[in-house]
Amino acid sequence: MAEQLHRVAFIGAGGIVKYSHIPNFVRLPNVQAVAVCDINEARAQTLAGEMNIPAVYADHKQMLTEVKPDITVVATPNLFHKPMAVDALNAGSHVLCEKPLALTYADAKEMFTVARQNGKALTVGSHYRWTDPMRMTKAHVDAGFFGRIYAARTVWHRRAGIPGYGSWFTNNDLAGGGALLDIGIHALDRALFLMDYPQPVSATGATYAEFGPRGQGLGGWGSDIRKPDATTRYDVDDLAWAFVRFANGAVLQFQVSWAIHRADEFSTEIFGVEGGAYVGDRDKVELYTTLNGQQVNIATEMPRTPASSYAKLVENFVRHLDGDPTAELVTPEQALIAVSIIDAIQRSAVSGREEMIVL
Ligand SMILES: NC(=O)c1ccc[n+]([C@@H]2O[C@H](COP(=O)([O-])OP(=O)(O)OC[C@H]3O[C@@H](n4cnc5c(N)ncnc54)[C@H](O)[C@@H]3O)[C@@H](O)[C@H]2O)c1
Repeated sequence: MAEQLHRVAFIGAGGIVKYSHIPNFVRLPNVQAVAVCDINEARAQTLAGEMNIPAVYADHKQMLTEVKPDITVVATPNLFHKPMAVDALNAGSHVLCEKPLALTYADAKEMFTVARQNGKALTVGSHYRWTDPMRMTKAHVDAGFFGRIYAARTVWHRRAGIPGYGSWFTNNDLAGGGALLDIGIHALDRALFLMDYPQPVSATGATYAEFGPRGQGLGGWGSDIRKPDATTRYDVDDLAWAFVRFANGAVLQFQVSWAIHRADEFSTEIFGVEGGAYVGDRDKVELYTTLNGQQVNIATEMPRTPASSYAKLVENFVRHLDGDPTAELVTPEQALIAVSIIDAIQRSAVSGREEMIVL
């Protein structure tokens, strides 16, 4: 395994770059943060000062040409993910692109084609599979505890968590969707990961915007947030509900919201012929099975691993680039399956019918 120095550059100087990407990359001994770019140059300047990053740009193409980073992180509004990731790949950089990878399945597929043509790695920020409850449950999946998994349910409900109100987050042209794309992709990845990423066949879904248009259900995340007023643009969903079928006969129930009248919940359940599991966010796994004819519930003790799930995603990505065969990656096949399901849910929300998924 050849450990080399990786020079990493960041496109976008918003919340996720400041709180997750830069800290998680620079804690690794063989990574150096070399540049940050933001259309809001003052924001990039401030971040670079705080994080000790030598170069600042307002234009990502100029940064790619002048800095030639080994790794580029793309963390801008969703609309720009595809063109910026493609520019970075074509400039000879590996790419960690934020979720959602792209606004459509066709665009996401093209991104991986460009990655392959350039011989570069492309992955996406689906980090929730690295939480302790997810690792523990996946180990039980791999050990055969559940038997054949034929049903799953994945939920991320925020009671009041509309991000970046009035910013790009609530502008459909820039975001491509609301809760469905923003947190739906995480909820989906959790279920699909535990189900071993089966091939999807179809999805039926509905989306709603009941809180945002009234300036209600607001959360704190995101830059450029505006105070609610009559001119604030909000044309994305704040609730998405769906049902997905897979080629192996399994089904998935999916519910996400940025705002809803219920308690917060972030959980995934899987149901197999031998056992089931309720997997919470950070601290809870409950297992259900039958032992000697008796129904048994097993509450498990969580390990307390110090690194965050995002830190583990970044570390695995860098180890993958170093050629470590034990490194885990959100693979192209997995990323494309997740985007194909979101894409079908969006189509179904418009057509009012079940939509087929052709990979
Ligand atoms: N994986 C996760 O858990 C996670 C968490 C939060 C956000 N995200 C994703 O990260 C991305 C950024 O989110 P955020 O919360 O940091 O948003 P943010 O609004 O805080 O930051 C976005 C930044 O992009 C900049 N920007 C806009 N257009 C640009 C352009 N053309 N060139 C360069 N910079 C430009 C903005 O000025 C802003 O500073 C989004 O795609 C979001 O979905 C992922």
